[in-house]
Amino acid sequence: MYHAAVLTVSDRSFRGERPDGGGPLVAEILKNAGYDVGITAIVPDEQSQIEEKLRQIADSGEVQLLVTTGGTGFAPRDVTPEATLAVCERMTPGIPEAMRYASMQVTNRAMLSRAQAGIRKGTLIINLPGSPKAARENLEAVLPALSHGLEMLSGRPADCAKITD
Ligand code: MTE
Repeated sequence: MYHAAVLTVSDRSFRGERPDGGGPLVAEILKNAGYDVGITAIVPDEQSQIEEKLRQIADSGEVQLLVTTGGTGFAPRDVTPEATLAVCERMTPGIPEAMRYASMQVTNRAMLSRAQAGIRKGTLIINLPGSPKAARENLEAVLPALSHGLEMLSGRPADCAKITD
């Protein structure tokens, strides 16, 4: 079983002004897909704080998957992608490409998400948009392929020819 963490990035949820809708929904979807979601946290839209939390969770060695929700748009304080770029050692552009491709079938505003994904040590970090609907649509677009990527990341011999999903 893979271990996952969910990080909500939102000024208003961090201050307690708005309930966190995206984080619990993402955690629920991951649990239903068989992930153990042990770590959840909320940070404000501050690049340094987002980076610090991403490093802390990834470097704990406890999770193979770290999903963020929020802060991927064009608002001046939307800086989750920049924090993700700063902490990742290798980017995995196919994941946001697939999310935006699938999401464009739902809304042309999908192109406005600047979500990134990449690898830091043994952890795959994936950005999702903030609204629960958008977070769900983006996550569900890539979830079926993730376990194969995590298998390769863990160093276990993974057979790319064996298609199971
Ligand atoms: N993707 C899907 N699948 N469904 C959506 O409703 N909303 C878009 C986009 N991606 C959306 C989506 C919108 S309106 C924005 S502004 C961006 O995600 C960024 O969202 P964020 O700023 O909450 O991260």
